[in-house]
Amino acid sequence: MITGRLGGLAFGGDYNPEQWDEQVWKEDDELMRAAGVNLATVGVFSWALLEPEEGRYDFAWLDAHLERLHANGVHVDLATPTASPPPWFTLAHPDALPVTPDGTRLTHGSRDTYCLTSPAYRTAARRIASALAERYGDHPALALWHVHNEYATLCWCEHTAAAFRVWLRAKYGSLEVLNAAWGTAFWSQRYGSWEQILPPRATQWHRNPGHTLDFSRFFSDEVIAAYTEQRDAIRAHSDRPVTTNMMVPGYQNIDLWALSREVDLVSIDHYPDAPGLDAAADTAFAADRARSFAGGKPWLLMEQGTSTVYGGDRVLAKQPGEILRHSLAHIARGSEGALFFQWRQSKAGAEQWHSAMVPHAGPDSRVFREVRETGAAVGRLGELAGSTVTAHVAVLHDSDAWWALNSDGLPSSELDYHSALRRAHRALWDAGVVTDFAHPEAELSRYRLVVAPALYLLSDAGAENLRRYAENGGTLLVQHFSGVVDSLAHARLGGYPAAPLREALGIRVEEYRPLARGERISLSDGSHGTTWSESLRTDSAETIAAYTDGALAGSPALTTNRCGAGTAWYLSTRLDAVDYAGLVAELLEAAGVRPVLAGLPPGVEAVTRDGEECRWHVVLNHRAEPVSLPSAAHDLLTGGPVGEVPAGGCVVLREGTVP
Ligand code: GAL
Repeated sequence: MITGRLGGLAFGGDYNPEQWDEQVWKEDDELMRAAGVNLATVGVFSWALLEPEEGRYDFAWLDAHLERLHANGVHVDLATPTASPPPWFTLAHPDALPVTPDGTRLTHGSRDTYCLTSPAYRTAARRIASALAERYGDHPALALWHVHNEYATLCWCEHTAAAFRVWLRAKYGSLEVLNAAWGTAFWSQRYGSWEQILPPRATQWHRNPGHTLDFSRFFSDEVIAAYTEQRDAIRAHSDRPVTTNMMVPGYQNIDLWALSREVDLVSIDHYPDAPGLDAAADTAFAADRARSFAGGKPWLLMEQGTSTVYGGDRVLAKQPGEILRHSLAHIARGSEGALFFQWRQSKAGAEQWHSAMVPHAGPDSRVFREVRETGAAVGRLGELAGSTVTAHVAVLHDSDAWWALNSDGLPSSELDYHSALRRAHRALWDAGVVTDFAHPEAELSRYRLVVAPALYLLSDAGAENLRRYAENGGTLLVQHFSGVVDSLAHARLGGYPAAPLREALGIRVEEYRPLARGERISLSDGSHGTTWSESLRTDSAETIAAYTDGALAGSPALTTNRCGAGTAWYLSTRLDAVDYAGLVAELLEAAGVRPVLAGLPPGVEAVTRDGEECRWHVVLNHRAEPVSLPSAAHDLLTGGPVGEVPAGGCVVLREGTVP
């Protein structure tokens, strides 16, 4: 655990001293002390300085910064700089530049301009990782290794084509099996030799879903291989934990369950894409996934913004109080600290308008005052280190289902995997419940309620697992267009969803009937659905609500089925948010799941971390007025008893005594 080395929870961020001079470094030392910084991520984008020409290293400047940080009591999360190859590298190895699906070869001038499958890139990445580990592997300041940065660049070049073929041969063994798996009998796509197979580049119309799904799987494996090569090069010289920072929305084409098994500590970056309460809900969505990927073990928030963040076409500024609330929201859900991108706002360069802990305005600023306040708060929470979070509800998450739902040619363009997961999580968050994410084939018996919001692809083993879960006493909610295709993305025949799940649900879906954009369909219980409807019949299930409109009038829309000792529900449309919240509340009640703290109004979030002898309730008030607590308790942040949470404020209540 890095908290052992740090002596508490982590607080700090990406530190790029190479952008500044000595006078600023002195001020950095002072301000880091003032803010309670104990961990700095160094070297993320420093390749061009560390290796100014191929094979010639310059470590002197980094030696000096590590010594300075160490002398100042700041530990180091040392990055390998491989997310941003220097210009000399791309000029020497133009074949290592990424190629887009339409054949455009990108060039340097930004960052992440590499092709992961290029042998020259992989060799250079291993070499610099190894050189850094050899030099700094047992440096006293070193607390953590940070491999690369947000592995994300995809590539469709010839190296990728060759590596893809190797992966496909290993998976399918013969072209005959591959042709059957991809259904190449359709549209005359049959492959007669391995060389005929290309990455799914730009083509005329719909691409083959088996081809695109396998490409996503292949590239995820390629990312994990690139990461583990660097990790192993580091481990040869260092015993410090190794991580790589993940982005939890759909930005990276990675199976995060698989990558998480390869890191010593799961770490994520999180930048909410909406303001206010939506940002708070999105923070919980990210943190709950991070904890789940970590298998319930502590994890680390590696990056967040202090204020403005680039997000698509606009920039969102954080509201006063959000630096603390968002930091504590991550810590509440299992993060062993709160780090930021970046320490000091750059005066030049591509991200000069991205916020930082020390803004352009300097330390005499709202942002830095809030950073200090947050650092002080995190400093008081050291006793939470190593404690865990227990959830009684799980939302199912599977990269295969996500990638398959990105296939061309699906019946609706309004089926977005992460939006569906976010919506399910949001309804549970609004209900005051902490949610885990779980793989459909994982052991689910510890959950009282399991929700499958967008499980388009479901393996045979997954379908069997869900049936077993319900049969053994669980409450299962399966939502529209789930269990539809198998692991090859082939449609299930004889009625949807996959047979064992169909039996558990006691229904048979005969036909999918997507709704027109903006169309709303009515249900007999007064609720409404959009986007989707299905023609289904009940076998053993009971109809809770039927469609009342159009061709489906009188057909079941929402059903429930007794399945062994449990109950399996099926929802065949996308309910309006308020109706969906009602259904979720009913299922929580039936499954016996209560909010973490009873009696809190909407917009007040509570999460419990459990230690061996005591537990801590983190309560975050996202509202503009103070909120009373059910009873007065000891607050770690103020060090005294509190009976309310101030407007926009936070408390951390200890129950029990620290050993
Ligand atoms: C992260 C990235 C950082 C920085 C930040 C800005 O995704 O890792 O390097 O670019 O975004 O939001």
